[in-house]
Amino acid sequence: MSQRQLTFHIFRYNPETPNQKPATQTFVLQEETGMTLFIALNKIREEQDSTLKFDFVCRAGICGSCGMLINGKPTLACRTLTKDLPTDITLMPLPVFKLLGDLSVDTGTWFRDMSLRTEAWVHTEKTFDPDAQEERMSNETALHIYEAERCIECGCCIGGCATANIKPNFIGAAGVNRVARFMLDPRDERDEQEYFDVVGSEDGIFGCIGLMACDDNCPVGIPLQGQLAYVRRKMALAGWKR
Ligand code: SF4
Ligand code: SF4
Ligand code: FES
Repeated sequence: MSQRQLTFHIFRYNPETPNQKPATQTFVLQEETGMTLFIALNKIREEQDSTLKFDFVCRAGICGSCGMLINGKPTLACRTLTKDLPTDITLMPLPVFKLLGDLSVDTGTWFRDMSLRTEAWVHTEKTFDPDAQEERMSNETALHIYEAERCIECGCCIGGCATANIKPNFIGAAGVNRVARFMLDPRDERDEQEYFDVVGSEDGIFGCIGLMACDDNCPVGIPLQGQLAYVRRKMALAGWKR
């Protein structure tokens, strides 16, 4: 059994009491075998400070709600074992997103806004017929779409993105991945010029500086480098045709 004593340095701020300045609070905890940051944070909240705010739903890397900066790296707290960290652990909320308090941020509003701005739905003139057979697509295309659909909207690619940190309207790798998903879908009838209007700007693919922090930080391993390159190629061609 591990005997380490862990020291947590946790960002504290409640936007509803703005007269209290942001600060880092220190908590000491005995490490236990198999301890994740989910377990550690719950122990701190139960035993030391019931006001500590953080988000977890699934505890299994599925819901995307527990993204935070763990010793500076954006990643999922529920999938992080304390044994893989040094004894000093600094936890900060993901930047870019609206801070709700301490480690809790509002990713939902950001992702909803991004989905609306990228028009993330199948655009077709066909009338939906519930009795018709499903349209066929090749397994290869379906697998590519599935790859993009695996995004759990955790925000780690956005929190670690230099452009997203300075440009509030940048759609980031999650947004470009979302656009790629519909570009790949044969049922979506938008042409490249229509996609250019959505993503061919400095807030879209041309704002990306290509250092690939997003690819390193995606906890579910979506090949964001490939998705960015795919959309950049298509939009460069569409821009040239213009
Ligand atoms: S490669 Fe582009 S989207 Fe990814 S982190 Fe860098 S600037 Fe952001
Ligand atoms: S692309 Fe990856 S890092 Fe970005 S929000 Fe989706 S799952 Fe999270
Ligand atoms: S709690 Fe759901 S991904 Fe971490």
